Amino acid sequence: MGPKMSVWMVLAMAAVVCAAAGADSIESPPYTVVHAESDFEIRLYRPSTWITTPVEDISFSKATQIGFHKLFQYIQGANLNNSRVEMTTPVLTGIVPSAGPFCSSAFAIRFFVPHEFKDSPPLPLLDSDLTVENWDEKCVAVRAFSGFAKDTNVAQEAAQLEASLQNSKWANITDSEPKDGEDAYTIAQYSSPFKILGRVNEVWVSFPSSEGCHSALLNTKAGRVAP
Ligand SMILES: *[C@@H]1O[C@H](CO)[C@@H](O)[C@H](O)[C@H]1NC(C)=O
Ligand SMILES: *[C@@H]1O[C@H](CO)[C@@H](O)[C@H](O)[C@H]1NC(C)=O
Repeated sequence: MGPKMSVWMVLAMAAVVCAAAGADSIESPPYTVVHAESDFEIRLYRPSTWITTPVEDISFSKATQIGFHKLFQYIQGANLNNSRVEMTTPVLTGIVPSAGPFCSSAFAIRFFVPHEFKDSPPLPLLDSDLTVENWDEKCVAVRAFSGFAKDTNVAQEAAQLEASLQNSKWANITDSEPKDGEDAYTIAQYSSPFKILGRVNEVWVSFPSSEGCHSALLNTKAGRVAP
């Protein structure tokens, strides 16, 4: 989400800011850190539910805006149940680079479904291209970065995560190419566009199975449960 904002974006983010001021906690998917290094960490996410919409575009920022706009309408009540859903973080953008025609990439924008609706999320409108995704637990390598996530830095951050992993015992994450249609990497955004300093973003790469996370947890007692 770049510094250029449209009206819906301002409204969406005002909702986030107000929720933050009121409840002082915005829900995020729960995970356990199984391993931490200075420049990345490995997390085991518990099973989670997401609302997802596909966007094809050449621009990460534009695709994220288009997708988030649809998700925002859904959480504001544009769903078959007319239910409003609290804003959560992070908003994910899954990326399969150059998957489409004319150098466009395939993006999937995802909203984390809060606990209240986990077992039965409001149903997407029939003509929307929103779907409910149920994720099994997921083992994910994560690199944090600050500033705005934008077209000029997201691929570099992903490459840096890959470089860090290659020099670690987690190198085998990079052995397996993503299968057809699977995201090569995901950008997780936590901050509203109004926030200039201390912005939080992450790049995620998922392991094909959660086995590595579980053996790391068994081998160390260092795992801690994130709030
Ligand atoms: C949404 O509506 C469907 C169909 O009427 C119903 O089965 C489901 O329980 C509702 N979900 C919520 C969250 O109210
Ligand atoms: C990667 O390596 C870890 C640790 O050596 C191992 O537990 C895990 O099963 C491996 N994963 C794959 C996909 O090969």
